[in-house]
Amino acid sequence: MSDAIDPDRSGAGARHALSRRKDYGSEILNESDAAADPFAQFDRWLADADARGVYEPNAMVLGTVDGDGVPSSRTVLLRGFDERGFVFYTDRRSRKGVALAVHPTATLLFPWYAIHRQVIVTGRAVEVDDAESDAYWATRPYGSRIAATASRQSQPIASRAELESRVAELEQAYPEAGEVRRPETWGGYRVGPERVEFWQGRTSRLHDRLVYTRSRDGGAVGAWGIQRLQP
Ligand SMILES: Cc1cc2nc3c(=O)[nH]c(=O)nc-3n(C[C@H](O)[C@H](O)[C@H](O)COP(=O)(O)O)c2cc1C
Repeated sequence: MSDAIDPDRSGAGARHALSRRKDYGSEILNESDAAADPFAQFDRWLADADARGVYEPNAMVLGTVDGDGVPSSRTVLLRGFDERGFVFYTDRRSRKGVALAVHPTATLLFPWYAIHRQVIVTGRAVEVDDAESDAYWATRPYGSRIAATASRQSQPIASRAELESRVAELEQAYPEAGEVRRPETWGGYRVGPERVEFWQGRTSRLHDRLVYTRSRDGGAVGAWGIQRLQP
């Protein structure tokens, strides 16, 4: 550990980030106020995060597990959600795409630290169909389309210059945004939740945690139930 991050040796004492203690606010998350399903509850909290200035409130940490059981995580952007699940877009040949092909189970974590909240979605990721991926691709600006086409995400490359020259070639070949078609390997995943946890920071670490899980009745998907967990 370097001096810079060792509170004992840095002399920074309580001012140091690692020893800072913040008492969280007065907000509460009660069973009686919680929405009947996690999508409605998420909708409320996403709107709050946005209204209260959380930077990139739709940024979420996607966790996957590969074929060797090795977990990995990275940030992706939520591009839509409804009762079917939470959607993000990526290169399906990427490290995450390869992991999801073997283990389609994923977690999505929304780290809304600034408002003392966290949401964790766990579920099964399925590929979004071509029509839906095309519709989203059509909203992407020219530069993003070129970049997604030029990059074979997660693979090594010898230099930045090589990537930039690929971009320049594509820009020459396809000068108009409409000409840059969605690569077949690029598209969306929808994580259909089995479990959604809402965490509300409270004073003295006595936080609120409500978990929505689907009841299962002989295999058929039932209504959402809510359970409180100890903090
Ligand atoms: C704020 C933020 C948003 C990002 N959004 C996306 C995204 O929507 N899709 C994506 O493929 N990568 C996104 N990335 C990049 C990923 O975090 C990651 O580097 C990339 O997807 C490769 O991940 P992998 O090698 O684990 O597959 C984002 C990164 C940040 C910091």
